[in-house]
Amino acid sequence: MPPLIFILNGPNLNLLGEREPAVYGRETLADLEAACRDEGRACGVAVEFRQTNHEGKLVDWIQEARHAARGLVLNAGAYTHTSIAVLDALSVLTMPVIEVHLSNIFRREAFRHHSYVSMAATGVIAGLGSDGYRVALRALARRLAA
Ligand code: DQA
Repeated sequence: MPPLIFILNGPNLNLLGEREPAVYGRETLADLEAACRDEGRACGVAVEFRQTNHEGKLVDWIQEARHAARGLVLNAGAYTHTSIAVLDALSVLTMPVIEVHLSNIFRREAFRHHSYVSMAATGVIAGLGSDGYRVALRALARRLAA
């Protein structure tokens, strides 16, 4: 059985493709999921891809990952910058966690420069669009194989 990686997406990412295309591009969430499935196949990991607009749901899924998954890719959207609850949930995990952002949050407004997620992340990728998710999956697959 290939190791399972959870890929969790936070609020407003369901609107990818329509939402601020100059910032987030034209790819939809379904395109992003397809890219992740493709990359997962190529690097030998199974992928569970989800999106929610609700902070508590994200916390529930991070808790679920404790027993269900071997690694986590997380784009917490705006909760990245606000959610101590997400940080606390991540802090319980012992698996590698890669924080991903489609946009380069450091080129944007100052309030996006701080990330609670980063405090519990193994690594951070920002600004590469869907390629960032692919790179995150590759990195996790290599760690799990090591
Ligand atoms: C984002 C960046 C966040 O600042 C923003 O709130 C998002 C998306 C990104 O993928 O670039 O919703 O996480």
